[in-house]
Amino acid sequence: MYKRAGELAEIVHNSKEIHIVTHIDADGIAAGAIALQTLKRLGKKHSIEFIKQLDEQVMNRLKNENHNLVWFTDLGSSISDNSQSINKIITDHHVCSDDVDFSYHLNPHLFNLDGADQISGAGVTYLVSKSINKKNKDLSFLAIIGACGDLQDRKNCKLIGKNQEILKDGKDAGVIQSKIDIRFFGRETRPVYKMLQYSNDPILPGLTGRESACISFLQDLGITMKDGDNWRKWVDLSKDERKIIISNIAQLLLAKGFGHKLTKRIIGEVYVLNNEVEGIELHDVKEFATLLNSTARYGKPDVGINVCLGDRNKWLGEARNLLRGHRQNLVEGLQFAKEEGIKKREFLQYFHAGSGIRDTIVGIVANMLLNSEEITSDLPMLGFADTENGDVKVSARGTQQLVERGLDLSKALKKVAAELNGVGGGHNIAAGATIPKGKEEEFIDILEKEIKNQLYSSDVL
Ligand code: C5P
Ligand code: C5P
Ligand code: ZN
Repeated sequence: MYKRAGELAEIVHNSKEIHIVTHIDADGIAAGAIALQTLKRLGKKHSIEFIKQLDEQVMNRLKNENHNLVWFTDLGSSISDNSQSINKIITDHHVCSDDVDFSYHLNPHLFNLDGADQISGAGVTYLVSKSINKKNKDLSFLAIIGACGDLQDRKNCKLIGKNQEILKDGKDAGVIQSKIDIRFFGRETRPVYKMLQYSNDPILPGLTGRESACISFLQDLGITMKDGDNWRKWVDLSKDERKIIISNIAQLLLAKGFGHKLTKRIIGEVYVLNNEVEGIELHDVKEFATLLNSTARYGKPDVGINVCLGDRNKWLGEARNLLRGHRQNLVEGLQFAKEEGIKKREFLQYFHAGSGIRDTIVGIVANMLLNSEEITSDLPMLGFADTENGDVKVSARGTQQLVERGLDLSKALKKVAAELNGVGGGHNIAAGATIPKGKEEEFIDILEKEIKNQLYSSDVL
């Protein structure tokens, strides 16, 4: 991979003008920011754009724009060899087309590594950046934000593989550190009871989703929840207070029969940025990633990219406003999907949000539903939402257990979408597609057979 990164670095060096095309999620923004900062430092003429998905229309437009070089980051794996007419490099981590041209493509799947947890789009982009100049090691923190934004720490409760190597660069450069701590979201910014209320990996029986139960739980443990007028956050608690809470959560899970493996998931590696102030949305890497997700997914990529590039004034203020809206949209989206009803088939479950949930966040909602107490996690979850061009977006999410049994959503969605004149792809555990409106039922029928085959044939093997 390092050799390929060096080859791509050479192509960048030899290009006069470079246009970056990246994805609208946290990993995409982080990848775009690494590429942009690298080109700025090189003094190269550059531009950047953010897209939801790479389709023929985008490729045709790019062809006509005649860029000296197009640098695709966190997307591009679907490009097949017949689009030679664009001078390009690709740094992506999605499952590739069979007919990719190796010479300009850096992707873990080309090196037998899984792009779902070994390295992210921002990670592979960082490898090229580091190849261009060792001094770019200070950008490694963005690669870690991208990896955590894509939930690459989820399977092992920590980053692994190439992500760990990148983390080491970040530690060497003094920009990041890792700690063993509770893995719940909002350690630095949420009142402790809220952090428990929203926990979903694992779900805390009797606590997740129940505000007053979380408050009583903490009161019973003798934890003071307020410091004057301020709610205390996890990072405000003493070591002893944190120990008491962790051991009581563990006891609760074990008593409910969750087993040691699942119980252990409450603790893991968390990542914090040395150059950010503790207690704000940028210090903890997961929170930083969520802040980025609140920007480009709502058509405001400038906000996310400027925060990545270091703005802590105007753009950060704007990002915080967007974050409030994003949280509200997720709460309403969950509610909407539940009211609409989760329909169960034998091998999958789904909801159709119509125009009730943005197509850019329907995947996050699908993931949250799959991880919620009242919904089974034995079946992959699909979420449909209308797009602004009159098509339908599908987001599919699975679990590690299903993947271990043979589920490959990337393969399935790619195949079924193509049969219906759509496009799809992604990872085994999470994939997406866009299909023509009106084809939803057909899509579900064919996909269900595909999933059945995947699970059934690997069981037999
Ligand atoms: O487009 P991209 O690759 O950046 O997005 C990855 C998607 O995969 C994210 O939506 C993330 O939530 C999902 N994912 C997941 N569980 C994992 C790894 C990734 O849901 N273990
Ligand atoms: O959009 P969503 O979050 O559901 O996407 C899940 C994963 O599938 C992401 O990694 C995304 O980049 C990928 N995807 C894709 N092709 C599509 C739609 C999504 O590769 N047409
Ligand atoms: Zn990604």
